[in-house]
Amino acid sequence: MPNSQKSNYKDGDSYTRKSREEGYRSRASFKLKEINSKESLLNKGMSVLDLGSFPGGWTQVSKECVGNRGKVVGVDIKEIVKINECLFIHKSIDKLTKEDFNKFEPILPFDLVLSDMAPNISGIRERDNAQMIYLIDKTLFAIDAFLKVGGSAVIKVFQGESLDYTREALIDRFKKIKVFKPKSSRSNSRETYIIGKKLVKENE
Ligand SMILES: C[S@@+](CC[C@H](N)C(=O)[O-])C[C@H]1O[C@@H](n2cnc3c(N)ncnc32)[C@H](O)[C@@H]1O
Repeated sequence: MPNSQKSNYKDGDSYTRKSREEGYRSRASFKLKEINSKESLLNKGMSVLDLGSFPGGWTQVSKECVGNRGKVVGVDIKEIVKINECLFIHKSIDKLTKEDFNKFEPILPFDLVLSDMAPNISGIRERDNAQMIYLIDKTLFAIDAFLKVGGSAVIKVFQGESLDYTREALIDRFKKIKVFKPKSSRSNSRETYIIGKKLVKENE
């Protein structure tokens, strides 16, 4: 096995072990923790929309940060085992409508939209990029519909085409844009995260 692969497996194991020890449902939890410690996106009392929330690691981290007064709504095509005081919509983002949020009316609009969604990887680069861009378009719909002016977003993308596409789409919407690959993200994975801060009003 090449050395680079060996060290990736080692990293993966240590974050998986750490997540089990600390009671998180996924090693992905540490990615959001790293993003948040760098960018301070999650604060007490905030409302958060967590797209692609299964098995719930980002939901757990978000809830810890927003506290009792804060609200977290997860969305995933897979059914999640409930997390205390968090809300879920069990649906594909394809099928998500404004009506799905009627019951959450009092907490709208959200302060933060997160997307850790990823397609099932086929290994065919063009196909995987196209599917990622499809999910990103759906995330942009959620941002336009449910994120408050001044709010922020974190979106998983693949380095290359989907990163360029998302950066272009966010430039018009946010005052500040950053790209960040957490250490807890496997170095041989093409995933990275794009962060948009301070949503601006149309025509601002
Ligand atoms: C990397 S996992 C998310 C891990 C999660 N952030 C955590 O910390 O536990 C990606 C998720 O995206 C979800 N997903 C992919 N396509 C989706 C879609 N069309 N609608 C909703 N969720 C989707 C998958 O079901 C999967 O659970």
